[in-house]
Amino acid sequence: MKKTKLKRLAFGGLVMTVILVQTACKPSDLSKENLIPRPVSVSATGSSFDLTDQTDIFIQGESVELKQIGQYLADKLNPSTALGIEVKTTVDAPVPGNIFLSLSGSDAELGEEGYELTITGKTVNLVANKPAGLFRGVQTIRQLLPAKVEMGDKQKGPWKLATGVIRDYPAYGYRGSMLDVARHFFTVDEVKSLIDKLAYYKMNVLHLHLSDDQGWRIEIKSWPNLTAHGGKTEVGGGEGGFYTQEQYSDIVKYAQDRYITIVPEIDMPGHTNAALASYAELNCSGKATELYTGTEVGFSTFCTNKEVTYKFIDDVIRELAALTPGEYLHIGGDESHATKIEDYIPFMNRVQDMVIAHGKKVLAWDEIALATLKPNTVVQYWAKAENAIKGVAQGAKVLMSPAQNAYLDMQYDSTSVFGMHWAAYIEVDKGYNWDPANLVPEIKKENIMGIEAPLWSETISNLKEAEYLIFPRLSGYAEIGWTPVELRNWDNYKIRLASHGERMKAMNINFFPSKLVLWDSKDKK
Ligand code: ACM
Repeated sequence: MKKTKLKRLAFGGLVMTVILVQTACKPSDLSKENLIPRPVSVSATGSSFDLTDQTDIFIQGESVELKQIGQYLADKLNPSTALGIEVKTTVDAPVPGNIFLSLSGSDAELGEEGYELTITGKTVNLVANKPAGLFRGVQTIRQLLPAKVEMGDKQKGPWKLATGVIRDYPAYGYRGSMLDVARHFFTVDEVKSLIDKLAYYKMNVLHLHLSDDQGWRIEIKSWPNLTAHGGKTEVGGGEGGFYTQEQYSDIVKYAQDRYITIVPEIDMPGHTNAALASYAELNCSGKATELYTGTEVGFSTFCTNKEVTYKFIDDVIRELAALTPGEYLHIGGDESHATKIEDYIPFMNRVQDMVIAHGKKVLAWDEIALATLKPNTVVQYWAKAENAIKGVAQGAKVLMSPAQNAYLDMQYDSTSVFGMHWAAYIEVDKGYNWDPANLVPEIKKENIMGIEAPLWSETISNLKEAEYLIFPRLSGYAEIGWTPVELRNWDNYKIRLASHGERMKAMNINFFPSKLVLWDSKDKK
């Protein structure tokens, strides 16, 4: 072959490569971006915005809260892009080349957590009524960038955002997960890591199951033996642990900074062996029980006829309420098989009043609907639809956590290493493919406060094991809570989820690689 032809071929190859690389690197269709949860509306304008070393984040005015959100975004972008993005303030309109965050307060449809993101070739303009909306919109900006933006070290650009407008707001006001830190203890850093992931998928609640038969995990200063003794072990006999009130407040603040509310749960009158082992007087027999490290349920109960039980509960609720900026305290109420129903009902009635007296609203598992629900008590449907229906009949709202659809500790299939399957096997499609407002005919959308995906920890003892059960199902629950049901379908979702494999890898998440999803093998952008 002649040299010139070779050269031409080589040149042609180079041109092709450049075109291919450019095409691959250039997201220009906003409507094709793989966002989870899927936004309410996306309109694409077919071009792109470049993050460069000239790009900064401008916030409108001197708000400390907006600065914090801007800094959160800068801290997410800077390690991987190495663009040295700074947070600056301005009173004016968006400055070309930059990201602009501002509050408008005039768009009722966006509500408390909605946002509008307008990306042009010149600016990225994020507007919301409330800081929480800006924070949710910031997660969208993260997801519009290549997956490697989530890496902790410098990556190669370019860093482009497709142009257009996203208007977005949640279907439900409560979108949460639960972590059982009682069966196995999880450290403050492990809880914070989960909070980060909830934030990424626009969830806004983390319910912490702080006490159970196997362990008491929150310091109560007026009853110190709860943690000194009752926090000493966990399922399998490991060393357990507990949060001091300072550590717990640190978790609450970390969550608050991510617009996530911590809902603390003290389970009662059953699931109380750790407390009964710590204080003899809480037992009807007057004798302390042994610490328990097995996985049976339904064998323990507070002595509902003793006044000291209520003095104890009042102290616990008082201290916990003081640590809780959120509206709700969870009082459990599930599987109290060792409590007679004629004792259970007055007990739950009295404890609801105590929570209200300390300025909080009650959340409890669905069995509470057997009692008389106080105004604002919310029933968390996990097991029996008939209980949830009783709750609705009493005028209560329902939090949807049906075990057969939404329990994160249910195994994916019969080969799953961790988890259980007493309610169901929940593959990724089954976890996604249901509508809270269309599951039980008597429970309609207007009866529903939201959705929560609980993770019980009998079979898992650290964050990596927890992640295997949480991911990739969590993003599906996040989408159920956020996206209008008309915009949700599995075939569309599984394509978006496939591209989140790279994102989860970049975030070092140990996810279950479900065979139902054709995971992207590399970062395509
Ligand atoms: C529960 O799973 N016992 C609420």
